[in-house]
Amino acid sequence: MKAVIPAAGFGTRLRPLTYARPKPVLPVGNRPIICHAVQNLADAGIREIGIVVSPMTREAIQAAVLGLEGVCIEFIEQPEMLGLGHAVMVARDFVGESDFCVYLGDNLFEHGVLDFRRAFEEQQADAAVALVEVPDARAFGVAVVDGRGQITRLVEKPALPLSNLAVAGVYCFRASVFGILETLSPSARGEYEITDAIQRLIEQGGRVAGQRVRGWWKDTGRPLDLIEANRLVLEGLRPGVLGEVSGSRLTGRVVVEPGAVVRNSVIMGPVTIASGARIDNAYIGPFTSVGRGSVIENAEVEYSVIDEGAEIRDMSVRLQECLIGLHARVIGHGELPRVHRLVLSDTSLLEFGC
Ligand code: G1P
Repeated sequence: MKAVIPAAGFGTRLRPLTYARPKPVLPVGNRPIICHAVQNLADAGIREIGIVVSPMTREAIQAAVLGLEGVCIEFIEQPEMLGLGHAVMVARDFVGESDFCVYLGDNLFEHGVLDFRRAFEEQQADAAVALVEVPDARAFGVAVVDGRGQITRLVEKPALPLSNLAVAGVYCFRASVFGILETLSPSARGEYEITDAIQRLIEQGGRVAGQRVRGWWKDTGRPLDLIEANRLVLEGLRPGVLGEVSGSRLTGRVVVEPGAVVRNSVIMGPVTIASGARIDNAYIGPFTSVGRGSVIENAEVEYSVIDEGAEIRDMSVRLQECLIGLHARVIGHGELPRVHRLVLSDTSLLEFGC
């Protein structure tokens, strides 16, 4: 089985973070989101991966997955953004006659994709779709399932959902689905929908397995989703302190990568501190990732995602639920209210109390 990861879009709902970089390269647990996807595929034995990029996202995505081992990645260009169905169509030559998995590059799954591959293969289905129960399914593809777990109807973002079963971002297909994809017309939102192709497959008598997601699933659509995804990934953190730690107290599951320095600080896990980061006279609270080369000095931060090369200094209040972009700086100078919620795009500078 091969895999196709659509990653040509920028992720406008995640602005301002995605002004400078596409969503799949934003970090969760100090790794670009797309690297989690590639890892999940490799863990399910799917090693030939085509990543669909656009001229705008190619460079950032290539850099993010560079050096990932055990997989063979090909980049496929989608010249126009005409929807997920179109993203899959442009991967036709890459897929050839193989069965394939489509993994949306901004989705995270606790237990990866093996369950979906198994459902597809063991049930000898024509397609398999990952499904998850949500309180309000209007923002997703919505499935109706029969007693045997087969999907009998699939609708994209219905105003009145027929069930609470949302389509999570993994699908398995046979190569014959291309025959359907090429007959699609654009949906009401002007896109070629993968959901419409599956609905047509069902109408033609195809068997589509609906496989429930085990454990957590996260679609990283909005800024708070990223903080929550980071929390979920850090829940599974395996501790390891390999960097230089002095005069500090580390509690719970903490990773300090080689080359990171922690001095006179309190770190309460789960926390991961990447190589080259420097934590000095600081408190880093639960569910925080500190990216490579970041500096946190005379400051308190918790439940936050701090990207590479960021700097937080001299803050007299605790930062909580923050997304701090690449090389962004937060510099404090005086007395401030007690908690701040920040979403700072790459290279921003925010000065307090000056
Ligand atoms: C896409 C699919 C939708 C699915 C969702 C999962 O929506 O079209 O069926 O439920 O991904 O993340 P989009 O994120 O493009 O709005």
